[in-house]
Amino acid sequence: RLSSTKELLANAEKEGYAVGAFNVYNLEGVEAVVTAAEEEQSPAILQQHPKGYCLTSVTRRPCSTALDGSPYCSVPWIHPSAFKQGGVPLVACCISAAEQASVPITVHFDHGNSKEELVEVLELGFDSVMVDGSHLPLKQNTTYTRYISSLAHMKGMLVEAELGRLSGSEDDLTIEDYEARLTDVNQTAEFIDETGIDALAVCIGNVHGKYPTTGPNLRIDLLKDLYELCSNKGVYVVLHGASGLPKELVKECIVHGVRKFNVNTEVRKAYMDSLCSPKKDLVHVMTSAKEAMKAVVVEKMRLFGSAGRA
Ligand code: 13P
Ligand code: G3H
Ligand code: ZN
Ligand code: NA
Repeated sequence: RLSSTKELLANAEKEGYAVGAFNVYNLEGVEAVVTAAEEEQSPAILQQHPKGYCLTSVTRRPCSTALDGSPYCSVPWIHPSAFKQGGVPLVACCISAAEQASVPITVHFDHGNSKEELVEVLELGFDSVMVDGSHLPLKQNTTYTRYISSLAHMKGMLVEAELGRLSGSEDDLTIEDYEARLTDVNQTAEFIDETGIDALAVCIGNVHGKYPTTGPNLRIDLLKDLYELCSNKGVYVVLHGASGLPKELVKECIVHGVRKFNVNTEVRKAYMDSLCSPKKDLVHVMTSAKEAMKAVVVEKMRLFGSAGRA
């Protein structure tokens, strides 16, 4: 069923729920999300993130792997890349599965942090894109986001961008580091006006991967301010790093305006865990992995309130 990410987020905003955007790496992942969505009568977003995704730049460890050339990285390895694994055929698989699904599903490019790559990616048929310039100083983030945003809008795509700096899970973050990464509410209005984005990924203490052992420290007060500002400008609020957030906190985020949650780690973990028990044959390996991922996706759709909204 043909739909658009714009339409999905507009409905979520109107009715006060959130849509899950799930990172997929292969056919089993695509099928897990699509069958979960059909069974739950839920909208969903299939997303892929690019090669060379570099998690964070805050702890100032030299890094030579970031594609954008940024010299620092706190994570000494390149993030597992869906786009590198699956490439254009996986994009085509997502698009075809979305078109054939009986519920609204769209295909999104996550964390586009290289201009050259994004310009190519815009030709592949994604319905929406994240322009991730969060590793850049504000002025360059604005220029980069504005450039890609104007190209993507010519294609009718929804554009998401990030202000602030999402961290990877780090237990020993100092208060200064934590605060330095938060979205600055004083920069937000101008950033939105100058870039023309449709959705903003906010940094309110959310992290990719696991949360610190002490649990998430989300600044709901900041989320409230950002939502007020964004909704006045017709911009949707997105929260990355949804894996590991306790249910009550997720619900609170929805009450205060989050309309898209990105989920990666928990689905990937379900896949990996399913490989640990003995299997009869390859097809059994694949179906077990798919079922394991699907269970996580179903749980998230119910929690996000998107179940039953298709
Ligand atoms: P998690 O891995 O914490 O679910 O974050 C996913 C994400 O933000 C993908 O963009
Ligand atoms: O958001 C980008 C990547 O998908 C990060 O997810 O922390 O689960 O590996 P991860
Ligand atoms: Zn993310
Ligand atoms: Na997370």
